[in-house]
Amino acid sequence: MNRLFRSDLSDKLPAIISVPQRKRMMCLNESCLDPYQAIKDQFLHRMEDIRLNRYLSPITQDLNDKLAQYAGCGISPKQVIWGNGADDVLYHIFLSVRENAESFAVSLAPSYFDYKTFCDAVGLGIKFQDLEEDFSFDTAKYIEKAKDPNCKLAILCNPNNPTGNLYSKEQLRTIVDALPEKLVLIDETYYEFSDTSFLGELDQHPNLILTRSFSKAFSGAGLRFGYALSSEENIYELSKVFQTFHTSILNQAFALTILENVPLFCAQVLKTIDMRTEMYEKLKAIPGMRVHPSHTNFLTFTIGERSHELFEYLKDNEIALRDVGAHPRLKSCLRATLSCEEDNDALYKAILAFLKL
Ligand SMILES: Cc1ncc(COP(=O)(O)O)c(C=O)c1O
Repeated sequence: MNRLFRSDLSDKLPAIISVPQRKRMMCLNESCLDPYQAIKDQFLHRMEDIRLNRYLSPITQDLNDKLAQYAGCGISPKQVIWGNGADDVLYHIFLSVRENAESFAVSLAPSYFDYKTFCDAVGLGIKFQDLEEDFSFDTAKYIEKAKDPNCKLAILCNPNNPTGNLYSKEQLRTIVDALPEKLVLIDETYYEFSDTSFLGELDQHPNLILTRSFSKAFSGAGLRFGYALSSEENIYELSKVFQTFHTSILNQAFALTILENVPLFCAQVLKTIDMRTEMYEKLKAIPGMRVHPSHTNFLTFTIGERSHELFEYLKDNEIALRDVGAHPRLKSCLRATLSCEEDNDALYKAILAFLKL
């Protein structure tokens, strides 16, 4: 134990990503479209007017306005806050709700792994409710857990990573309505691939906050840009835990350029959805394969006990997937990002070769 640091950190693990580096990176739900290559002329043109020797830039307001406009549903710029990726925004939400050492959040499981990492980092506990076999969950039990006076945040990832499923609006609405005293966070990182959002209901639910990302639909994983949407009052409270100059002007300039090219990225999302449908059908037809329907840019599947062997075989053949089998509900499951047709074909052929089909 290192006594120079917070004692509750001593048994926690740092946020280290351990995925294989291979030619075909299908493990982190990234896009194959490099946004820099696609829009660099506009970005570099914009940079001509930007002064990196200054803390402040007029593009901050432009970006705020454009982001609110992109969100739609009458969202005002004061209902938006952004950070270095959705992760950074999540981290700050967790920080902003932590009251004391007893405070905790509630999440479903399996869900996004880093909820726990960031909760640990800010000293917020986290309690989980396991999904059922079909990835549904008991609403009443979830509400009961979240009603505990020490629960400060109810997290729901929709669509969910790594299962890929979408919960019904009715079910989520029941939860948001039943917990008026709690902040309910719906993580919509993959929302563009599902075309389902709670944004239209922010007005009716003062306890609701949504988080989104530029890493998936906007192909900007390396950019690090994500945002939250909520009531003006909630965003104001949340902004108190952010640093004054928290997101580089470079990130802001690039994010703004992305927002001026939305149709380009929408086309990529539609392509990804087509690839998802095609791969789902192809994988489903393989004997012994179980593939879960997905509303995201990835597919989660299993071939049973040989899944780990397949994972290693794919690695040896330059294909990196994510092994998501740690939770019993996803026993022996692998997750594959639908990045581009070439990678999907290579994956499909490698699976057939492994199974000697
Ligand atoms: C559900 C979910 N939330 C948040 C994130 C973080 O996104 P970002 O890259 O914007 O930090 C991810 C990334 O994979 C995710 O899957």
